[in-house]
Amino acid sequence: MRLTINGQNHNIEAPADMPLLWVLRDLVGLTGTKFGCGAALCGACTVHIDGVATRSCVLPASAVVGKNITTIEAIGGTPLGKKLQDAWVAEDVPQCGYCQSGQIMSAAALLKGTPKPSDSDIDSAMNGNICRCGTYSRIRKAIHRATEA
Ligand code: FES
Ligand code: FES
Repeated sequence: MRLTINGQNHNIEAPADMPLLWVLRDLVGLTGTKFGCGAALCGACTVHIDGVATRSCVLPASAVVGKNITTIEAIGGTPLGKKLQDAWVAEDVPQCGYCQSGQIMSAAALLKGTPKPSDSDIDSAMNGNICRCGTYSRIRKAIHRATEA
């Protein structure tokens, strides 16, 4: 398979049904995207497929041939991603940090479509991203901060 990941083409030898998350982490070495549940329930594995936040743990890699895959490693290269990462630092959002790649990817997808989200916009967009450390209020503050930057 030929996959476009963070603007670079990769020739991947893998079974067609291998989840994109395994390809990213184990074959390409992009370990910023995390495994949480493996069942599309926690959001730790969120990446963008053509700009849309998508759970990579249940997505066969063969389904994204010809699409643009963006991971946490590249999101800071976009102006919006940079604002979000700066806001995450300023609000000291992470605790253990494990869920935070997925949180930022979901937040970036939200702000693309809704540049000034309300609290309820944030809650509904981020609803599928679970944080066992309970950083939700800081995540919300950081998203607002990013929109003001
Ligand atoms: S690891 Fe994909 S949603 Fe939990
Ligand atoms: S910061 Fe620990 S799970 Fe979210």
